[in-house]
Amino acid sequence: MNVFVTGGTGYIGSHTCVELLEAGHSVVVADNLVNSSPESLRRVEKLTGKAVPFYNADIRDRDALNRIFDQYSFDCAIHFAGLKAVGESVEQPLRYYRNNLDSTMTLMEVMGDRGVKNILFSSSATVYSQDNTMPLTEESRTGGCTNPYGWTKFMCEEIMRSTAKADGEWSVMLLRYFNPVGAHPSGLMGEDPRGIPNNLMPFITQTAAGRRDHLNVFGNDYPTPDGTGVRDYIHVVDLAKGHVAAMQYMAEHRGTHVFNLGTGTGYSVLDMVHAFEKATGKPLPYKIAPRRPGDVAVVYADPSKSEKLLGWKAELDLEDMCRDSWNWQSHNPNGYGEEEK
Ligand code: NAD
Ligand code: UFG
Repeated sequence: MNVFVTGGTGYIGSHTCVELLEAGHSVVVADNLVNSSPESLRRVEKLTGKAVPFYNADIRDRDALNRIFDQYSFDCAIHFAGLKAVGESVEQPLRYYRNNLDSTMTLMEVMGDRGVKNILFSSSATVYSQDNTMPLTEESRTGGCTNPYGWTKFMCEEIMRSTAKADGEWSVMLLRYFNPVGAHPSGLMGEDPRGIPNNLMPFITQTAAGRRDHLNVFGNDYPTPDGTGVRDYIHVVDLAKGHVAAMQYMAEHRGTHVFNLGTGTGYSVLDMVHAFEKATGKPLPYKIAPRRPGDVAVVYADPSKSEKLLGWKAELDLEDMCRDSWNWQSHNPNGYGEEEK
């Protein structure tokens, strides 16, 4: 299939481009580079030996999208483009709502005009309500989000659902990611966050590399076996493969479908620290710090629907996640390079 990939220079998008190309699909990427570097696509080309057309475009820019759609005949789009920092969304809500909702609506309007009515969306476990019991199934309650970022994902899901309900030609795949970590095993591609990382794994790798003094473990008094928060970490290559499987499913099943992309296993912050130490052979300095506001104790997926219907399940384990994250960080201490951003 010929796939339009928004946000394709970013962390998950670039890894997904590799898997799509390796599965025989072709991709065209558009990204405004607000949180990424085009160098990621050069690495995709190096790894796959295939060309990746790239457009420096804002997905809210209808004219730019029309110019791209004039040149290609797409079968579907994967919509990764979006702002994703939870804390920043609390401080800049309008920027988040404007960016994430407007890009989704503009993209769907342009796609609809062209009769390209197949879309996969990067949703998130953050759409689930906090009062659910674990593990989270696709039927678990949603809403009651604790930050504007989460609401944008919730609202984009609704926008897509309503559009598909009104026009039966649409196929919509709402993919709810759990906690993506890791990097391509080649060491050529990985996560390259700007500034001080918010997420656990990039903070761990930067601490191991000496860029940060120590890791702050946010709370050790949660009702979990070691008192630290538990999450469902998934290797980004497994997550990328989930998109290839979901795209195949979409081609055969019209309508709106929701899938969890997680492993089904929860690990605590200290599990992650110890697994990382084991994978790298280096001690990781950490200190127990107060809980981070808005965090919950435990989040993990029931991925059985994805396994049953998509024929997909995560195959890489915690050791793979830690080894590949470190391989990327240690070979690319400045990520894709500051000058590229
Ligand atoms: P990322 O920041 O690396 O990638 C997102 C990309 O979108 C970036 O390259 C950015 O430049 C681009 N972008 C943002 N707004 C744009 C716009 N208006 N026009 C064009 N490009 C734009 O993040 P990621 O981790 O690869 O996440 C990809 C998607 O998955 C996002 O929608 C994110 O919200 C979602 N998601 C991520 C996680 C996670 O923990 N990484 C978890 C759940 C869901
Ligand atoms: N943590 C620390 N120290 C840090 C960073 C994180 O102890 O420096 C802890 C957190 O308290 C939490 C765990 O590590 O217990 C994971 O935190 P992350 O920030 O890596 O991930 P979250 O689960 O908070 O959120 C992530 C994404 C969201 C997405 C969600 C889906 O950031 O965008 O996963 O489950 F919605």
